[in-house]
Amino acid sequence: MKFSLISAVALLAAASTVEAAAPLKDLASKKGIYIGAALGNGNLADAEFVKILKREFNHITPENSMKWEVTEPSPATFSFGLGDEIVEAALAQKAKLRGHTLVWHSQLAPWVNQATWTKANLTYAIERHIKAVAGYYNNVPLDHWDVVNEVISDSNGLPRDSVFLKTFGSVDAYVELAFRLAKKYAPKSKLYINDYNMEGEAIAKSDALYELTKRLLKKGVPIDGVGAQGHMLVGQVPSNITAVLEKFTKLGVDVAITELDIRATLPFTQDKLDQQGKDYEAVFRACLAVKRCKGITLWGITDKYSWIPGVFPTEGAALVWDENYQPKPAYDGIVRALTTKAPASYTKPGKGKN
Ligand SMILES: *[C@@H]1O[C@H](CO)[C@@H](O)[C@H](O)[C@H]1NC(C)=O
Ligand SMILES: *[C@@H]1O[C@H](CO)[C@@H](O)[C@H](O)[C@H]1NC(C)=O
Repeated sequence: MKFSLISAVALLAAASTVEAAAPLKDLASKKGIYIGAALGNGNLADAEFVKILKREFNHITPENSMKWEVTEPSPATFSFGLGDEIVEAALAQKAKLRGHTLVWHSQLAPWVNQATWTKANLTYAIERHIKAVAGYYNNVPLDHWDVVNEVISDSNGLPRDSVFLKTFGSVDAYVELAFRLAKKYAPKSKLYINDYNMEGEAIAKSDALYELTKRLLKKGVPIDGVGAQGHMLVGQVPSNITAVLEKFTKLGVDVAITELDIRATLPFTQDKLDQQGKDYEAVFRACLAVKRCKGITLWGITDKYSWIPGVFPTEGAALVWDENYQPKPAYDGIVRALTTKAPASYTKPGKGKN
C-alpha cells in the first residue's frame, strides 16, 4: 500500500467527518430503524472492513452464504460452515441477521435446475431444503428471512421464468408453499418477499408484486414483510418511494430496503458523488417517513468489493465508503436524513423530485 502526503491529508479530513457524527447504527436506532450491511465471508478477513462493520451497523445479511447453491450443493447434502461464519460475526457485535434466501431462481444449486420434476417431488425437495436451512438457523434465530427472491420478471410484471414456475404452473402456488414451510421451520423470523425495481410508482413489476402479495395474504399465507432491494442509479432514484412503501404497508405488512446501492456511470465525477449523497438521503428519508419501514441494508460497505463493476462494467462507486475506506458524500447524506428534519420538498407533493 502506498501512502502519499495527499492521501494522508484526505484521510485526516475524512476522519473528522466520521467522528463528527455518532455511528450510523446509533442514529438509526434513535429513529426506530436498523441499518444493515451485506457481507461476503472474505470480507471478514479485512480488518478495515470489520472495523467499519462493527462501528456503523447493527444488522447483517450474508451476501451469498445462505443461498441454495451453498447450503445444499447436492441433494440432501447440507453445508452451513460459511453461513455460520457470518452468524458468528453478527452475534459477536450483537447485530441481527437477515437470512437470504430460501427459494430463488439464481445461485440455485445446478442439480435443482437439471432435474426433471413433478409438483410432488419438487415440493418434497423444497420442504427438505427449507426444513434443513431455515430450521438450522431458527436456533439463532434470524430476525428476517427473504423467503423468496425476485419472483416477478422485468418484462411487464409477468411471473419470473424458473424451474419453480414451470413445475408449479403458477407463481402463487410455489410462493405460498415456500412461505408456509418457512413459517413452520422458522417461526421466530419475520418472513419477507424480496424484489428489485419495484420502488417506483406506476411500474408493472411493482404492481404485480403488490397484487401477488395481496392475493396471498387474502389466502392467509404468512407473509410478514416486503423487501425492496433498492439497487438504483445515481440521479434516477424514483421520485416517491414513500408512496410505494406505504401502499405495501396498507396490506398489513412491514417493509424494508434490503439491498441498497446507488451506482454511478463512469467517470465518477465529484458532481455524481454529490448527487449520490442526495440520493442516499432520499432513500433513507423515504423509509423514515413510513411507519412500518423497519430498516435499510446496504449491499456492502465499500466500493472495493461491490458486485457492480463485475455485472455493469461501465458503472460502479455504488456504496458509501470508497475503495480506500473513505466515507463519501453518501455517508453525509445518510447522516443528514437521520439527524435533520426533511426539507419541505420531501413532504409537499409537487415540489422537487425527491
Ligand atoms: C420426479 O418424479 C418423476 C416421476 O416419477 C421422475 O421422472 C423424476 O425423475 C423425479 N425427479 C426427481 C428429481 O426425483
Ligand atoms: C409521497 O407519498 C406520500 C405518501 O403517499 C405523500 O404523503 C407525499 O405527499 C408524496 N410526496 C410527493 C413529493 O409526491
